[in-house]
Amino acid sequence: MSVLVSGFSKLSKTEKIDWLIKNHLSDQKNAKDILTQYWNSDQKLQQLHDEFIENTVSNYYLPLGVAPNFVINDKIYTIPMTIEESSVVAAASKAAKFWQTRGGFKTKVIATNKIGQVHFTYPGAFSDLEDFFKNVKSKLILDAKPITKNMEKRGGGILDIQLKNKTKALDNYYQLHATFETLDAMGANFINSCLEQFAKTFKAEAEAMLPMPVTVIMSILSNYVPECLVRAEVSCNVEDLAEKDIDPNTFAETFVQAVKIAEIEPYRAVTHNKGIMNGIDAVVLATGNDFRAVEAGIHAYAAKDGQYSSLTHAKIENGIFTFWMEIPLALGTVGGLTSLHPLVKLALQILDQPNSKQLMQIVAVAGLAQNFAALRSLTTTGIQEGHMKMHLMNILNQFNATENEKTQIIEHFKTNIVTHSAVVEAIENIRQ
Ligand code: HMG
Repeated sequence: MSVLVSGFSKLSKTEKIDWLIKNHLSDQKNAKDILTQYWNSDQKLQQLHDEFIENTVSNYYLPLGVAPNFVINDKIYTIPMTIEESSVVAAASKAAKFWQTRGGFKTKVIATNKIGQVHFTYPGAFSDLEDFFKNVKSKLILDAKPITKNMEKRGGGILDIQLKNKTKALDNYYQLHATFETLDAMGANFINSCLEQFAKTFKAEAEAMLPMPVTVIMSILSNYVPECLVRAEVSCNVEDLAEKDIDPNTFAETFVQAVKIAEIEPYRAVTHNKGIMNGIDAVVLATGNDFRAVEAGIHAYAAKDGQYSSLTHAKIENGIFTFWMEIPLALGTVGGLTSLHPLVKLALQILDQPNSKQLMQIVAVAGLAQNFAALRSLTTTGIQEGHMKMHLMNILNQFNATENEKTQIIEHFKTNIVTHSAVVEAIENIRQ
């Protein structure tokens, strides 16, 4: 039974664990051992992890894998991926290997503008507000100079501020809609600081110059970044899609049809895009970026035309198969976890220290590769064959298989289809 607690945040880590065990885990004999076995023996490193979030009691491990053989704009990459789901890294690797001999991935950053808004209400005439905004706009930018001057030195900063009238949708509701260039920073802190300064100046000036009061509701960046856009693409002659027993024409046509289904059918589009996010999230996480922001922005983009749809597209034209995707991605390669988490630093090193534009391209490629691999399986063997082949080790671990049992069973499933029940049967046969 749950109990309420006051002052929990002020307890020491040990006291928090004791409270947790007493109130939630009293039946679990070795709860403390489970929590502490994931602590790092290097106390400084553990403290670093403890301080990433609040009320930390342990570390939650996710595997860091790497997918080699990605050729992106003629440069070879090994892509780090942090993910718990089996077959994702294998699928990315397989797609990378497939495309490395077919021209590789081509990518392009289309734009890098980020957005933030001050949401406010004004009960007076719009014309008064419009005139006031024209007068105050330069002061908004000037007052934010202490925040923007370093970013400006590097070539970024505030690009524009617009007044948006949203009163048709909500009474008295307006926005200061601002665009920013934040270069290699994801920019959340920079944008939010600028917005809060805009709000301060705007409100103070309004008090002196407008007949009615401005009420600031909130100032916050938007994770919807349709003007921070990257494109990734693969293409080759249809006959070059040939592999083993796969007929290239049938494969290309079925593949394009599968993408078209995801374009028009939301039930399919969600799963299709989930597969893309397998790749995207894994690289976003490995490189210390905010996958929730990326997820929210990308799914909003997938619905930008009024219906949730596929993020990827495919066509066959004049015997050429082309498969591509354009997605919004606001990523950072400086600041945040990128300079704090030792594994994030290492992941960025594996990628040859990309700037944020290069990282956008790498992440987009991981998403496209993932979708290619999934669709390739779905339209040929079916997903279960490869997925279950990769999942085999998880099932064996669930049944505490010994090394000897694992070796025998892996050998057995080289020539047999992996299903959960077939693996259980194989374990039972060995153990009898
Ligand atoms: P395969 O043909 O059996 O693999 O594919 P293979 O043993 O012939 O090896 C070929 C290459 O695949 C390897 O080359 C690796 O690159 C990679 P090599 O290293 O030998 O030069 N590979 C591996 N890499 C690392 N560890 C491994 C490994 N095995 C192969 N153990 C594979 C097997 C799973 C790759 C294939 O069946 C596949 O791509 N399946 C798709 C799996 C997938 O999409 N998983 C995502 C999870 S399912 C999901 O959530 C999304 C979904 O619902 C989305 C949607 O509906 O669109 C499907």
